[in-house]
Amino acid sequence: MNGIPFGPTYDEMLERNLIDPEIKGKAEKAISDELDPINLFNITWKDTDNNVRKIVLPPELTGIDANIVVLLGKDFPSGSHKVGPAYSTLIEGCVDGDILPGQHTILGPSTGNFGIGVSYICNLMGYDAIVIMPDNMSKERYERIERYGAELDLTPGTESDVILTLQRTYELAKDPKMRSLAQFELLPNYRFHRHVTGNSAIEAVEGIGNGRIACFACAPGSAGTIAAGDQIKETFPEVRIAALEPYECSTLTNGGRGQHRIEGIGDKMCTLIHNVLNTDFVVLIRDDDCVRGLKVIHDGADILAESGIDMETILYMKDLFGVSGICNIIGSIKMAKHLHLGPGDNVVTVATDGYDRYESVIEDLDRRYLEVEDFVLRRWKKDVFDNADESNIMDFRQSDKKEQLFQQKEKDWIPFGYTKEYMDSMKDQNFWDAEYAKVKYYDKKIKEMRRQPND
Ligand SMILES: Cc1ncc(COP(=O)(O)O)c(C=O)c1O
Repeated sequence: MNGIPFGPTYDEMLERNLIDPEIKGKAEKAISDELDPINLFNITWKDTDNNVRKIVLPPELTGIDANIVVLLGKDFPSGSHKVGPAYSTLIEGCVDGDILPGQHTILGPSTGNFGIGVSYICNLMGYDAIVIMPDNMSKERYERIERYGAELDLTPGTESDVILTLQRTYELAKDPKMRSLAQFELLPNYRFHRHVTGNSAIEAVEGIGNGRIACFACAPGSAGTIAAGDQIKETFPEVRIAALEPYECSTLTNGGRGQHRIEGIGDKMCTLIHNVLNTDFVVLIRDDDCVRGLKVIHDGADILAESGIDMETILYMKDLFGVSGICNIIGSIKMAKHLHLGPGDNVVTVATDGYDRYESVIEDLDRRYLEVEDFVLRRWKKDVFDNADESNIMDFRQSDKKEQLFQQKEKDWIPFGYTKEYMDSMKDQNFWDAEYAKVKYYDKKIKEMRRQPND
């Protein structure tokens, strides 16, 4: 078997219209048949009309004049945009000749969505996969991974215990048959989000407000998504990039560590691929506000109608977000207030996944609070959204703050064998631009090397 598996280039993930029309047509028809491998060509922020999937939040929800534009990840194949970095890391490994079908088993260290993405693309591209993740994440995640055929290898804990999954992955990777898609360390994750997410964000604000982006607010897990900010800054140098993290696990802010409820983010580390040079602000968000906000949006139709949102929008919004999406919305409101943004200004943020994997989290909330009647939801709408304020916003633009983040990164990654020299090279924007420039190289190689679908 010659060549690498059939799948899109970075440019084709950004721009559906660059896909060969026959393949594009087949991919669009296969959306309802998710295990058809042609769905690799549906890894994109765009809908079939080539528009970025997004919602501009109603001001009655946000309580502010600036536009909050949320890019919607739930309609990516496998149900979240994390399939993009999973695919990009695998296909780059294939191009480099480092990952060979039939010979290698893929390891996916994750807290859920990346693992779901890894198991999904391995199913489509013919690889065996093992997903290594904490044993206390929402049960919907494990069900999906098993449905896509990957093996689960569970380590104790929750979102904040990712370091255990990394240690376990390093152990498993000593077997020469194993190849790890190390999302926290490998730069395809950065390339996917800078190129595909960043340029999609820039397109998403066309025709909205002043057509520019004043703030990009994003809660890092692997810190892949926040790389979109690097591309946004190239186009809109005035943009302020805010990294959001759980109040209960304030690692970027002050090295704090703790358990929290925002699945997918706040992993008790500064990841290797986080370009902290472009992180302008760090904002702390309380975890239960995110879960309560999700409850309001999913179950509070009457309350939302009382604040003047029309029923069509309420019903449309119901399933669009997960817990981290609500964290990103709260962070966007806080930043818009902090930056004094007005009606012409746009804040862009991301909803990585949708409600479908949080039913159990909301059931748990109902159990914890016992009373979740309308009067409680009315109070939560006010507390979580209307009263989101400027507290816990830290300016990280000064050199001492950058140094703090560099040091956190060294503390987290030197134990895994990275050299001080390599870590120092990351303190220069040229490092990141050179890594981004490799998109062109990989795109050329993918086009030359990919097998045709029926080879
Ligand atoms: C639900 C959810 N939100 C946010 C993130 C963070 O995205 P990133 O890893 O790109 O920083 C993840 C990552 O897995 C996630 O699963």
